[in-house]
Amino acid sequence: LKLEALKELEGVNDSKSLNDLRVKYLGKKGPLTEILRGMGKLSNEERPVIGQVANEVRAAIGNGIQMKQDEISQRELENRLKEETIDITLPGRKPSQGAIHPLNKVIQDIEDIFVGMGYTVEEGPEVEQDYYNFEALNLPKDHPARDMQDTFYITEELLMRTHTSPVQIRTMEAKKGEVPVKIICPGRVYRRDDDDATHSHVFTQIEGLVIDKNVRMSDLKGTLLQFVQEMYGKDTQIRLRPSFFPFTEPSAEVDVTCASCKGDGCRICKQTGWIEILGSGMVHPRVLEMAGYDPNEYSGFAFGMGVERIAMLKYGIDDIRHFFTNDLRFLNQFVRI
Ligand code: PHE
Repeated sequence: LKLEALKELEGVNDSKSLNDLRVKYLGKKGPLTEILRGMGKLSNEERPVIGQVANEVRAAIGNGIQMKQDEISQRELENRLKEETIDITLPGRKPSQGAIHPLNKVIQDIEDIFVGMGYTVEEGPEVEQDYYNFEALNLPKDHPARDMQDTFYITEELLMRTHTSPVQIRTMEAKKGEVPVKIICPGRVYRRDDDDATHSHVFTQIEGLVIDKNVRMSDLKGTLLQFVQEMYGKDTQIRLRPSFFPFTEPSAEVDVTCASCKGDGCRICKQTGWIEILGSGMVHPRVLEMAGYDPNEYSGFAFGMGVERIAMLKYGIDDIRHFFTNDLRFLNQFVRI
């Protein structure tokens, strides 16, 4: 019986036939059960002998079945694994990825450069009082120099700030005459301009202000040179052109060598090799005085740059409107910068 069962077992290859075989030999109606059930009819001498043999046979068949069972499960598992394998060499689907807006990226870069020189970052409101936007900057009501910045007025006393210079005043007031003042102020500003490739009624400025004892024009120049060289590379040069702002004296507009045209002229610098990036100057004594700093003891410099300009020059962007229209074909080019 044992040999017959083990022989049959060899031919079994799947769980179902294995189970049939188990029922056939070890089940309630199987031959072994029958033998064990008939034990009572045997003599006292026969019973232990037959019992032992029957148990041995049962154990042997049971073991055989167990081993076969293990073998089959293992094989079935392997087959399943093989069928369900994932081809990890298939290229995945790339999730579309957002990115920092190029303007914010450039603001962060500029902040990093100035923070590296010991400046802190200040912010102020976009809806500003006439006093901070103009009067405290030496631009009294009805002064013709106000025409330099076409303004969106909200009321007679409230307007959309036309530049970030009011943050100078707010910071000086908060500092209550303490020095040094060493800040940059990024933010949005508004002007009544018709939008075109180089003008936008909303744009971004970064203001800088330093006040201390013995601050000189050469400090302004050195600071700005350091800035443009970190921004555009070590070969970058600047030039200062005399200019006018009511809140600085003397004043200068600052040009930088055009990084986009590499000397042969291009659309961005209009073939000149230079492009204006900011206005600057020594803080006007009247401005210092109005904000609580004694102009006989302290001096300072200030500058205000257009961030879109800086970014256009850095990345060769030829239309300021790209920054505001959120066209993904434009924005996606900056995913990896
Ligand atoms: N506020 C000036 C402007 O927007 C720029 C500027 C800032 C000039 C600080 C001088 C000093 O045009």
